[in-house]
Amino acid sequence: MTVFDLTWRSALVTGGAQGLGEGMARALASAGASVVIADIQESGEHTAADLPSEGQQKHAFTRLDVTEETDWERAITATIDTVGGLDILVNNAGIEISSLLTEVAAGDIRRMLEVNVLGTTLGLKHGLRAMRPGGPAGNGGVIVNVASVAATIAFPGISVYSATKSAVDRLTRVAAMESGKLGYRVRVNCVYPGLVPTAMGAGLANDMATLGLFGSAEEAVGAVVDLTPSGRLGTVEDMADAVVFLASDAARFVNGAGLPVDGGMGM
Ligand SMILES: NC(=O)c1ccc[n+]([C@@H]2O[C@H](COP(=O)([O-])OP(=O)(O)OC[C@H]3O[C@@H](n4cnc5c(N)ncnc54)[C@H](O)[C@@H]3O)[C@@H](O)[C@H]2O)c1
Repeated sequence: MTVFDLTWRSALVTGGAQGLGEGMARALASAGASVVIADIQESGEHTAADLPSEGQQKHAFTRLDVTEETDWERAITATIDTVGGLDILVNNAGIEISSLLTEVAAGDIRRMLEVNVLGTTLGLKHGLRAMRPGGPAGNGGVIVNVASVAATIAFPGISVYSATKSAVDRLTRVAAMESGKLGYRVRVNCVYPGLVPTAMGAGLANDMATLGLFGSAEEAVGAVVDLTPSGRLGTVEDMADAVVFLASDAARFVNGAGLPVDGGMGM
């Protein structure tokens, strides 16, 4: 058994039906954890059924809209009931709607604030309540929030999205501080993924061309790669392995931190 081993741990991954969340769920399961995928998309049921499993591991799907407090209460209870506890919460669900600042729609701003900021905050609230001593899970644990390289650079066309991810960064620091001060025994960290060609990442590159910021989606991707010392886009596995690290005992003294997983783009 290594310090990265997650056998007997229970994890909840929001937005886990596809993309980075699916990869994070898969990597946590490969490290030995039982995983609940929580998403607004029912296809998360199939994603959960496909996760690697050995021995005592159980995986499940629960429907969760991260902006709805009652959904959170139900999802946390369902997780504890189906996989026997809650040790790891990954607040991964997020949305991105590209726009120039001069054109941005109030409804789109509200939607991004709701999913990315309200959703992550409710996750912190209900995750901490469940994991802290005396809570229904009660053994402490780890929360990993998914911010973005967009919180650390200025890329055109994604101003509001970038602002919401900067908020996720600050929420992470204060959550770690409150958790420590109040003896919750929950570490809270975040990752800043670089661009990954998931549905969101590919959509963002297309938007850059539509907004007239780059000649084509390929040109936008080329600009990102040029800004990246590692010289390529990120992969789902690059992000997922970083989450396993933060969730594991290998990161036992890493707390209130933001880990760039962006090939150096945001330095
Ligand atoms: N792909 C990238 O390049 C990239 C880069 C940096 C950060 N991120 C962040 O990583 C996370 C995952 O991104 P992705 O690329 O996998 O996106 P994606 O669009 O492929 O997947 C997002 C998932 O979140 C779910 N979701 C959306 N709104 C939800 C809600 N209200 N409640 C519950 N689930 C909801 C979707 O159904 C989907 O399964 C997001 O927070 C995103 O901001 C992505």
